[in-house]
Amino acid sequence: MYSEKVMDHFQNPRNVGEIENASGVGTVGNAKCGDIMRIYLDIDETGVIRDVKFKTFGCGAAVATSSMATELVKGKTVQEAMEVTNKAVMEALDGLPPVKVHCSLLAEEAIHAALWDYAQKNGIQIEGLSKPKSDIHEGEEDEEEEY
Ligand code: FES
Repeated sequence: MYSEKVMDHFQNPRNVGEIENASGVGTVGNAKCGDIMRIYLDIDETGVIRDVKFKTFGCGAAVATSSMATELVKGKTVQEAMEVTNKAVMEALDGLPPVKVHCSLLAEEAIHAALWDYAQKNGIQIEGLSKPKSDIHEGEEDEEEEY
């Protein structure tokens, strides 16, 4: 039921870990399944994602999609990273069973939440980016909420 790529990224996830003093950190959760994903981005002064790490407390598909999502955004500009949608992640994994589509959505939202955090910290706007609804913002740093 899972593609070889999904199994590979589940068994050997890429970019697991944390980045200290990350440029942006995003944590999202799915209320229904209770799975949580956190993405750390290290972004250089030209807006290129130099490094990315993730931690996922969730199902196998959540691990595989976060792993693939980190691979897809690495080396991209923040604007290009916006094109890494859940569809792009699923295609790169050769598909997911329909009941697991929401897991890939969580990966997209985790990237968006981390980009949102980066944009907030730097007072910039990223075209097409809004605060993800599932952003659970655990706030390791004391960031102020805007509203
Ligand atoms: Fe919820 Fe996979 S079952 S993220």
